[in-house]
Amino acid sequence: MARTVLIAGNWKMNKTIAEGESFADGLKSSIGDHDCEFAVFPPFFSVPFVSARLEGAGVTVGAQDLFWEKSGAFTGEISAEMIADAGGTAVLIGHSERRHEIGETNDVVSRKLKAALDAGLVPVLCVGETLEDREAGDAEPYVRIQLESAVAGLTVHQVQRMILAYEPLWAIGTGRTASPEDADTMHRFVRKFIESRFGADLAASIRILYGGSVKPENATALLGKEDIDGALIGGASLDLDTFLGIAAAAEDPS
Ligand code: PGA
Repeated sequence: MARTVLIAGNWKMNKTIAEGESFADGLKSSIGDHDCEFAVFPPFFSVPFVSARLEGAGVTVGAQDLFWEKSGAFTGEISAEMIADAGGTAVLIGHSERRHEIGETNDVVSRKLKAALDAGLVPVLCVGETLEDREAGDAEPYVRIQLESAVAGLTVHQVQRMILAYEPLWAIGTGRTASPEDADTMHRFVRKFIESRFGADLAASIRILYGGSVKPENATALLGKEDIDGALIGGASLDLDTFLGIAAAAEDPS
């Protein structure tokens, strides 16, 4: 089953509103040169501005996190409904920086995933092992536990609306990338997991992005792999030319 390549930029805590708008304008004017889909995840403040600039362009604009309650006394938090109200249609869930820098547990990730689905957002569920687990040969069991916890109790219909991202912790922002073969092996493992729980059709259609030091130089090899359906890009997504360079490299079959 054909899965359209998705090139997604996670800006993390970068870019002012004006910088986000200017990036959005540039992206909008370059979209016609590419066959892939694009998504950007600006900081919360910029979501309404970036989504307004990208209106009608077919680019997904999402937030980097949410809180699972709809409203109430949760100082500093933002709900899924607020993201949708601001023009966001997607949200990153369980990014490794939230899991490991902020301390989000699998239980928290699962609540956030359900809140995103309930509000009609497209969740991009991030999973990925630590270096210790990879070196101990436990990468797959580690990722399996993250997946099991996140999708417990979800229906086929709900999982159909999700995107997955495999981001090995040791490859994020470090300049180290998983080899295309290792990444593809993990993507196949994730797809098999989805097949075992939700059936072959869903497993064949769900997109699994790779994230961790993706750049134009390694995108062709990574995205050339059968089970890698796109990229979730941090550092290299901040510069428009580099971001578009990744899309061009992903579209280059050589
Ligand atoms: P990176 O970040 O591309 O800077 O490694 C990827 C991510 O955290 O999504």
